[in-house]
Amino acid sequence: MGKEKVLITGAAGFLGSHLCDRFLKEGYEVIGMDNLITGSMDNIAHLMNREDFEFYHHDVTKYVHIPGELKYILHFASPASPIDYLKIPIQTLKVGAHGTHNLLGLAKDKKARILVASTSEVYGDPLVHPQTEEYYGNVNPIGPRGVYDEAKRFMESITMAYHTYHDLETRIIRIFNTYGPRMRLNDGRVLPAFIGQALRGEDLTVFGDGSQTRSFCYVDDLVEGIYRLLLSDYAKPVNIGNPDEITISEFAEEIIKLTGTSQKVIYKDLPQDDPKQRKPDITKAKELLGWTPKVDRVDGLKITYEYFKSLDREKLFQTEHKDFEKYSKK
Ligand SMILES: NC(=O)c1ccc[n+]([C@@H]2O[C@H](COP(=O)([O-])OP(=O)(O)OC[C@H]3O[C@@H](n4cnc5c(N)ncnc54)[C@H](O)[C@@H]3O)[C@@H](O)[C@H]2O)c1
Repeated sequence: MGKEKVLITGAAGFLGSHLCDRFLKEGYEVIGMDNLITGSMDNIAHLMNREDFEFYHHDVTKYVHIPGELKYILHFASPASPIDYLKIPIQTLKVGAHGTHNLLGLAKDKKARILVASTSEVYGDPLVHPQTEEYYGNVNPIGPRGVYDEAKRFMESITMAYHTYHDLETRIIRIFNTYGPRMRLNDGRVLPAFIGQALRGEDLTVFGDGSQTRSFCYVDDLVEGIYRLLLSDYAKPVNIGNPDEITISEFAEEIIKLTGTSQKVIYKDLPQDDPKQRKPDITKAKELLGWTPKVDRVDGLKITYEYFKSLDREKLFQTEHKDFEKYSKK
């Protein structure tokens, strides 16, 4: 009997590429699908010669055809960073809506189990802290972040509808800020933004007064959570993230210490609808999956910093991060 097949969309992205590694390691045959709108072949170059890996350059908002059987589908294709979804808002809505619909149809046809990547952004600027899965969120549908937040909320909704009305085996993960090697240095997310600024010898920019909080999960911990959720029998959304919360000002100081930069922190206006606090309640993941994050931020940051240091100098000086201020003010 041949190996069981897994389709991973967004395979050339940060999380998708780590998922490809994990499923290959678990002995599956992996089909990675990506249209490369925000991803890079660099992230999966090490897999291209493997017999058990195949890459489809394809946009999942178009009809998706896969020959033969499929055991699992992991839908991770979507612009994911603020700079990306502010720049390509329509594609972001389409991949959450048409893309998810296409993949649910494929899962139904193949009798495959599908896991979709949702996000803590479905909670918007949360009024409940920490965020439990029962909280419905506080999202501005027409604000700049609405294209991402509402696309993901629709994705959850259509996924539950396929589960309820077509008996499809579905899993929904709500991912909180995750970091690690293969993130893009200039994608507007706070962690690569700070490290990039430190590496370029620029001051670290904090938007707002720095009292807003985030909690960062190392990518290996997240991948373990995804794997366990996929194999579980739980169809409702599950938060996966690291509840170790930190203010953005404190985080900037941690990065200054880590990188040894002699630069300082400067403060700029907070973009519209920027969440003031973020911290997952992971009781469900603990109880249902026996999952807790294992990697300490100090250790995870060291690995990530080494990765960024190893990149070409050219990547370090790409200016895409500067667009963030421009687009977030529209
Ligand atoms: N990284 C995080 O902290 C985080 C947090 C919450 C949710 N997520 C979710 O996880 C998923 C992956 O995020 P990431 O951080 O790896 O982002 P990423 O940008 O690195 O990866 C996304 C990938 O999807 C691809 N893609 C986008 N639209 C596509 C389309 N129409 N067809 C085919 N491929 C397409 C991109 O080219 C890219 O390779 C996203 O769905 C995101 O919403 C990530």
